[in-house]
Amino acid sequence: MTKEGLHDLLEVMSLEEKVGQMNQLSGSFFNPSASVTGPIEGKKFARESISLCGSVLGLMGTKTVKKVQKEYLENHPHKIPLLFMMDVINGYKTIFPIPLAQGASFAPKLAGHCARIAAKEAAADGLHVTFSPMTDLVWDARWGRVMESTGEDPYLNGRFAEAMVKGYQGNGFDRPYAMAACVKHFAGYGAPEAGRDYNTVELSQHTLRQFYLPAYEAGIHAGAALTMASFNTLEGIPATGNLWLMREVLRKEIGFEGVLISDWSAIEEMISHGYCADRKEAALRAVMAGVDIDMMSGVYAEHLVRLVREGQVAETLIDEAVMRILKLKNNLGLFENPYPDSDENEASRLFLCQEHREFARKAARESFVLLKNDGILPLAGEKKTAFIGPYVGSQNLIGSWSLTGDVKDVTTLKKALLEQGPNQDMAFAQGSPMLDEMMDLEGFHERQKENFTPGEQEKMLKEAIDAAKRAEVVVMALGEDRLQSGEATSNANIQIPKVQQVLLEEVSKSNENVIVVLFSGRPLDIRNIVQKAKAILQVWLPGTEGARAIVDVLFGEYNPSGKLPMAFPYCVGQVPIHYNSYPTGRPHIPGKDKDRFRSKYLDIPNEPLFPFGYGLSYTCFSISPVMLSKKDMIKGGCIEASVMVKNIGSVKGTETLQLYIHDLAASVVRPVKELKGFCKVELKPGEARKVCFSITEKELRFLTGNGRVESEEGEFEVYIGNSSSTDNKARFMLGCRR
Ligand code: GLC
Repeated sequence: MTKEGLHDLLEVMSLEEKVGQMNQLSGSFFNPSASVTGPIEGKKFARESISLCGSVLGLMGTKTVKKVQKEYLENHPHKIPLLFMMDVINGYKTIFPIPLAQGASFAPKLAGHCARIAAKEAAADGLHVTFSPMTDLVWDARWGRVMESTGEDPYLNGRFAEAMVKGYQGNGFDRPYAMAACVKHFAGYGAPEAGRDYNTVELSQHTLRQFYLPAYEAGIHAGAALTMASFNTLEGIPATGNLWLMREVLRKEIGFEGVLISDWSAIEEMISHGYCADRKEAALRAVMAGVDIDMMSGVYAEHLVRLVREGQVAETLIDEAVMRILKLKNNLGLFENPYPDSDENEASRLFLCQEHREFARKAARESFVLLKNDGILPLAGEKKTAFIGPYVGSQNLIGSWSLTGDVKDVTTLKKALLEQGPNQDMAFAQGSPMLDEMMDLEGFHERQKENFTPGEQEKMLKEAIDAAKRAEVVVMALGEDRLQSGEATSNANIQIPKVQQVLLEEVSKSNENVIVVLFSGRPLDIRNIVQKAKAILQVWLPGTEGARAIVDVLFGEYNPSGKLPMAFPYCVGQVPIHYNSYPTGRPHIPGKDKDRFRSKYLDIPNEPLFPFGYGLSYTCFSISPVMLSKKDMIKGGCIEASVMVKNIGSVKGTETLQLYIHDLAASVVRPVKELKGFCKVELKPGEARKVCFSITEKELRFLTGNGRVESEEGEFEVYIGNSSSTDNKARFMLGCRR
């Protein structure tokens, strides 16, 4: 439809019909097959608000979508099609590694292609919008939703956000198979106090702007069609009703012109926040802040018309919101074809096709991080090997936000080993339950509760110990259950379940050659595992083809190359922890402190167990000292920083060189390091390559004490290494030397 056509349409819509467009309901009000992804008990909606609502979430399936859309259009006064939205977070039917795992690949293009495949499968099944990418910055592993982010660094998250938006949308809703992307959760949702989901967020504007906003901005500037407001408050005001955050920062400063949608029931929840006295005030605050769509609270449907009629809300505000929604529908081509890509035959052809499975396996391989290896990996096929642990036979390898997928499509580790492992002399034992007693986990329309009797548990343990005693090597597949991370899964304790710790303890008494394959949706406290295992491969929740990828790596078909996108803390007491912290006035330098008055703990080190950017390989790489093309940079100039990297090991491998900058003195304190670039190089044994990074004045800009984003003259350190703990650095000056 033309722009004029949209305006003509808006002209003829009644106020009730306009407000209808601003109301989003769960698909369960249209068809019982819908997925419900938020609290829905007791929610009721008037018949009219259902027949006029503008979008639906959680409903999918070509036949279902077509039927609902057809019936809806038959009754809609202006034949404005419904938008169908869903959380397609890391794949649709072909499930990819969780986003945090994708972050570990340090390969945004890879994540972009995962998003492209997800969009194809989802669009073919009738969906128009995905509530992805989640670009929240995360520093606190107690918060279960870290699994949905790509980690602790603003720059890395920004590159992934851009790639995923392009993957979903193409270069402007490329047909076929375009899906509108939604950057979320705006803003600062990843910083809840004490890591407790939905909790208060206390961020200074400086920290918000310097660390948290850049990734949202990157996703929006990449063209994301929607942004989702976050549940949390910022400076005491819920994001959903935060005029400054939404009108000033999001709309004016960042220039977002797309649709702003609330999170589930978040408008109504401003009453619980104590920010609104009632639903009517909640509707007022949210529409004034510029929230275009009310997801599932019904507050807009109930009160907006009256607020306009009473003169409390100008109808022009409603018109602006509705025009943004109509434009989104128009950009997706829904007025011409309300079912643009949904096609049953196409969908079944695309779902889990070999090409998609192969890419899921590739993505999983590149997401694994080798945390420890004393040389026991890769496995030699002829060694008698016992595979022990609750993840050996489990299909629960997909993240908790993979609700459009099916664990039944997942290959177990045992099956993958039997099919593709070179080792004929293998034994398998579960060894323990996945979860501790009484743990009862709830996902989206699924539960995880085990009922093993004490006798059964003893038998499992004994079988495992016997298998360990008979084996030369033991591979233990351990970790968090998939439902222990994701929404509303905060944990004060971030270790693997105790039953599994006991299993590891007992098995390592019976066999000293223990390798741990670790499954989790978050960084864990794994001090105990590091002590007992000779090798640790972090595989996160690796998706539909994850098990096959694990076998590829265990037997050396693929040399692991992943790097941590989020630090593994020494213990939960260190959290929140991140590499890009400020030096403080009393930095602690291990072994070099002259006095006790330093910024440190008495009982644990300051450093995490494994830092951001860390990850081993089956080969080794040497990295030369940093070379600079010059020592002085004038404004507008550029310096080339480079290193020679060489594969000094015996197998081909990939190293990820990371470029960090440290501004030594500025009008506000600056992080000890900030990631400004990364480059993956694959090298054969003996092969060397020069890796160069260009540093311009742009990379040195920050939010200065003047409140502007600019660079300041002075001395800088530039680091190039294979982890954020690198000390491989050189110095240069920006501007004239004093
Ligand atoms: C949830 C989540 C959000 C999701 C939405 C719809 O509460 O916070 O990330 O997209 O509801 O399912």
